[in-house]
Amino acid sequence: MCKIIELKNIEKAYGKLSVLKKISFSVNKGEIVTIKGKSGSGKSTLLNILGFIDKYDSGQYLFDLQKVKRKKYSNFRNESIGFVFQNYNLISGLSVIDNIKIPYLYSKKSFDNYLEHLNFLLSFLKIEDLTSKNVADLSGGEKQRVAICRALSLKPKLLLADEPTGNLDPLNKKIILDIFKQVNEYYGITILIVTHDDIFDEISDRNFKIEDGYLYEEN
Ligand SMILES: Nc1ncnc2c1ncn2[C@@H]1O[C@H](COP(=O)(O)OP(=O)(O)OP(=O)(O)O)[C@@H](O)[C@H]1O
Ligand SMILES: [Mg+2]
Repeated sequence: MCKIIELKNIEKAYGKLSVLKKISFSVNKGEIVTIKGKSGSGKSTLLNILGFIDKYDSGQYLFDLQKVKRKKYSNFRNESIGFVFQNYNLISGLSVIDNIKIPYLYSKKSFDNYLEHLNFLLSFLKIEDLTSKNVADLSGGEKQRVAICRALSLKPKLLLADEPTGNLDPLNKKIILDIFKQVNEYYGITILIVTHDDIFDEISDRNFKIEDGYLYEEN
């Protein structure tokens, strides 16, 4: 099995607060993995490190078997990783479609069938009628679906989703579960989900728990 993520003894502290303590774990290409844990246990911290948003203090992180240099973090993140943030991180003042097209505009790669893929996502996520709306005027569930559309728009190798179904109703949760399943099956996108929601147990290959700075695999 080819590893897309390999962490060895990753440590991260904020001042005196040690959040991640010698975390070692790996995720194989094409897997769907969940991470659970109490509020404040370090889930977003770990996800931000995996998504090249935050630096780690020590240890080693190999992505697709390579060590990524700091100066390449932003390009790499844009083209290889889709990130669904806990608070959506949409750009207020821009329309839905302008938000979704940001990764494409900043990408240096050329993408075949970008518009076709985009239309598939817009329709699957039921946001095709919202494209000209300002994102500030959307409901929480709509914002979350726009954020997921943006994260999947360049068919990333890895999708990192931070509580993608927090505060959503059952219908919205099902749409999100289904799109994750689809892009995993059709494009082989590896997915790592930080969640409190058991709904993802249906599609996950492995489940982890983070507690006291350590990561445990759950059965
Ligand atoms: N930039 C920061 N500076 C200082 N402390 C931080 C920073 N970011 C996170 N922390 C602290 O690190 C710990 C882990 O935070 P993190 O956001 O990773 O938790 P979490 O598991 O994602 O929680 P939640 O479920 O509430 O989202 C918390 O105690 C938090 O207060
Ligand atoms: Mg968090």
